[in-house]
Amino acid sequence: MRFDILTIFPDLLKSPLNEGIIRRARAAGILEINSHNIRDFAFDRHAMTDDRPFGGGEGMVMKPEPVAAALQAVNAEQAGGHVVLLSPQGRPYNQSLAAELAAYKHLIFICGRYEGIDDRLTDYIDDEVSIGDYVLTGGELPAMVLIDSISRLLPGVLGCVDSAGRDSFSRGLLKHPQFTRPRVFAGHEVPEVLMSGDHQAIRRWRLAQSVKRTRARRPDLLAGARFSADELKDLKSEGVETDGLRAETAAVKLDVALVHYPVCNKNKEIIGSAITNLDLHDIARASATYGVGTYYVVTPYEDQQRLAMEIIEHWRQGFGAVYNPDRGQALAKVVVVDSLESLFKEAGSRGGRYHVMATTAASGAATMSYKQVRQRLAAGERTLLLFGTGWGLAPEIMAQVDDVLPPLGGKGYNHLSVRSAVSIILDRLLADA
Ligand SMILES: C[S@@+](CC[C@H](N)C(=O)[O-])C[C@H]1O[C@@H](n2cnc3c(N)ncnc32)[C@H](O)[C@@H]1O
Repeated sequence: MRFDILTIFPDLLKSPLNEGIIRRARAAGILEINSHNIRDFAFDRHAMTDDRPFGGGEGMVMKPEPVAAALQAVNAEQAGGHVVLLSPQGRPYNQSLAAELAAYKHLIFICGRYEGIDDRLTDYIDDEVSIGDYVLTGGELPAMVLIDSISRLLPGVLGCVDSAGRDSFSRGLLKHPQFTRPRVFAGHEVPEVLMSGDHQAIRRWRLAQSVKRTRARRPDLLAGARFSADELKDLKSEGVETDGLRAETAAVKLDVALVHYPVCNKNKEIIGSAITNLDLHDIARASATYGVGTYYVVTPYEDQQRLAMEIIEHWRQGFGAVYNPDRGQALAKVVVVDSLESLFKEAGSRGGRYHVMATTAASGAATMSYKQVRQRLAAGERTLLLFGTGWGLAPEIMAQVDDVLPPLGGKGYNHLSVRSAVSIILDRLLADA
């Protein structure tokens, strides 16, 4: 990774960049760090880099031309760097912003001094970062903070591959307490479990200490922490209160399909039904609300496919997109396909096999409860839910699916519109408990 630092005090940076882990990473070629004296790019004979503020007031302001010229010089050597101004007015710096910046191959830091830089440099800057709500005399120390914290996230910089991943903040927890020799210091013994050699017990103890420490010192962080079911069990066994700790959830991989052919009419004959504007909109909105991946509309009829596309385009790109952009976002979930076979082909190329589930208003066909499907979805199983129009999915489709969900209602009258059924079933399967 390459860092370029623009400063009027390059000497300030020498020692921090030439010691310890950063020095080793530079020697190993993992980091390239260059500092540039902004003064070298001043154009007047006094090499002035600052001037009095227009409008009066205290202090001096850094002139725009030398900074712009320094940026151009770096760009001429290597174009495309992400330019970051260190500024108390920038985005608050934390571990996740460090990880975000570590994804760049080339970062250019501008270190302000005095009252800061001329505001017209904004066009040259991609990002502004503050290292905290206090004001320093210059951006050099913040630049060092960023370089240090970003570098330790890069592969090969730390000795142990996942060391950074186990640090404080990496998962919304402060790190557990650490001890080294001697075994007894000032009358205090190292906790017994760390001497036991029982790695499972040590892991459980450390996790418990992390949670207790975070709860006591930084309860704000805990809201961002997620725990696996095993971890929650371990925490309980260590006597840690788990109320309020949030369980990990696998990303839901559920798609829905509204089938217009082959479906039954009320005489149980096989027919094709027409697309409705209401189903298109309402099922798209329910899908977006509950986090469904794709809403497939299955129809073999070309005029119907065209009609669906026209409606979708109106809300995604036409006047509808301007009038109500949220609707376009929901309709972006819709994919029109001519048959279930095409759907499986298209979906298969994007992520393997589905657990295919049918829905029906008929009783006696169910093979799996809502609770079971909910659990399987929570475990990340890729699932396709089929809904039939007309009087329901044709027997040839029912015969092909892996499982069938129980009908809704059960009070005698079972004629929900398909869009109502979709909403209710999505809520049963995906709503937060
Ligand atoms: C004295 S400060 C200027 C403060 C500015 N007048 C203001 O009130 O926002 C001079 C320079 O130090 C750097 N600096 C100061 N505090 C900082 C912080 N908390 N985070 C990042 N950079 C900071 C910036 O580069 C800034 O341009």
